[in-house]
This record gives sequence, C-alpha cells and structure tokens, in this order.
Amino acid sequence: MNDFAGRTALVTGGGSGIGLATARLLAERGARVAVLDLDPTGVPEPLVGVRADVTDEASVTSAVAEVLERFGGLDVLVNNAGIGAAGTVEANGLDEWWRVLDVNLLGLVRVTRAALPALRGSDAAAIVNVCSIVATAGLPDRALYSASKGAVLSLTRAMAVDHVGEGIRVNCVNPGTVDTPWIGRLLRAADDPGAELAALQARQPTGRLVTMDEVAQTIAYLASPHAASVTGTDVAVDGGMSGL
Ligand code: NAI
Repeated sequence: MNDFAGRTALVTGGGSGIGLATARLLAERGARVAVLDLDPTGVPEPLVGVRADVTDEASVTSAVAEVLERFGGLDVLVNNAGIGAAGTVEANGLDEWWRVLDVNLLGLVRVTRAALPALRGSDAAAIVNVCSIVATAGLPDRALYSASKGAVLSLTRAMAVDHVGEGIRVNCVNPGTVDTPWIGRLLRAADDPGAELAALQARQPTGRLVTMDEVAQTIAYLASPHAASVTGTDVAVDGGMSGL
C-alpha cells in the first residue's frame, strides 16, 4: 500500500515503542515522516529525527518549525509521547500529578498548537492521539495515568468538533497492554517479572499482549484517506479488554 505517498507526518515520542512502529509504517506506506523525541538518536533512515521535549514550549515550537521547513507542510500528526505513573489518587504527590499531566496532556496541547496552522494547509489533515484503555475502563492503581488519558479522550472529541470545518480529522486509539520497551521496563522492575507478565496477559481476553504493529496499523488507518469519514472517535486495540 502506498496510500501516504506525497504526505508528510510528525510522530511524537517516535524514538521508541508504538511511536517508532507507527513512524516506520507510515514511511513504508509512502509518507515522509519526522519523529519528535527526547532522544531521536536511534531513529533509522529514512525517518527524520528532531530532538524536543513536549513539556518545553520553545523546544516544541522550534522542532515543529524545523519539520515544516524540511517538509514544506504537514498532513498527519500522531500525538504519542507519554509516560506512565502507578498509584492511587493519594499515592502520588501533586508534583507528580503536574509532571505526568505536563507530558501526557499539555505535551499534546503544545505540539498540536504548533502544528495546527500547517495542518490547515493540508487537504487530508488528520490528528491521531495515542490514548489508552484506561480512559474508558477503571484499572487498579492507575489514578493519575487514567486521568491524563481520560483528558486526552475528551480533548480528542472536542478538537474533532472544533476542527471538522477546517477539514482536520481528530481521533484516538486506546491500546490495552502493548509489548513495548515501556512494558519491558515495568516487568524488569517487578518483584516477579514472570508472574507480572502472566497477569498482564491474562487481563486481556485474547490472552496475550497487543503488538506494536497492531496499534501502528490502527493509527495508520485513522490517519489515512480510508478513514475520511471517521472523526471524533476512539478505537480500542486492547485484546477485547473493554468489549468482552
Ligand atoms: P515508550 O516508553 O516505549 O516510548 C515513549 C517515547 O516517548 C520514548 O521514545 C520517549 O523518549 C518519548 N517521550 C517521553 N517523554 C517525552 C517528552 N517529554 N518529550 C518528547 N518525547 C518524550 O512507550 P510506549 O509504550 O511506546 O508508549 C507510547 C504511548 O502509548 C504513550 O502515550 C502511552 O501512554 C501509550 N500507551 C502505551 C501502552 C503500553 O502498554 N505500552 C498502553 C496504552 C497506551
């Protein structure tokens, strides 16, 4: 499939995991793709790596400007950069609440604000936000992370309504537990990594973790012309967690 031929895309947090898988897939399907990340050094050709911290407005503005100068426009924005946090509502101090919201919610806002003028110039503009199944299902010990992703889901719908008249579609994907370096780190930190992995697998009715490619394929669909009538919605890629 070459359905992104002539298109340009920017993927935040594309130096690893779901973001990198998505950037690679969009490039395979013909797009010129830039990856914005804290550490874009390992990003393979032909992806264009730009260093930025989504919590720093100046660094986001200059990174997006660099991408626009290089590509001459932007058709697709994938807001994927995100971090996790475990704990109940009282377990995390307010500084931790601000830190996670600053990346997962305000980071998305900063990048979107910088990219919107260019997206308005596209005749096939799409934003895909990487949300999480915790936005729609209560999981234990994930209060702060869930709140951050719940905000991303609401914002996705609000943005879809605000920008539909400008021809910009906005959707999000809600992954279950995905086999990424993030989950690798979580397992390594567990007392019993084998038992932790088994518990994560058992939580999903399919009995296994979601693959990065499965999420990337869904993001690519939502960003593609095949989804031209799809806006303001969320697609779960969660092994049946929310539906069964
Ligand atoms: P990952 O940790 O493998 O990759 C995240 C990337 O984001 C890294 O390259 C990191 O450098 C970058 N990043 C983090 N903070 C940043 C910042 N301030 N500025 C710029 N870049 C930054 O994580 P993974 O698993 O690929 O997660 C990606 C997204 O998917 C996140 O938004 C996460 O919440 C979401 N997600 C992940 C799930 C999972 O099970 N792995 C499940 C549901 C959602």
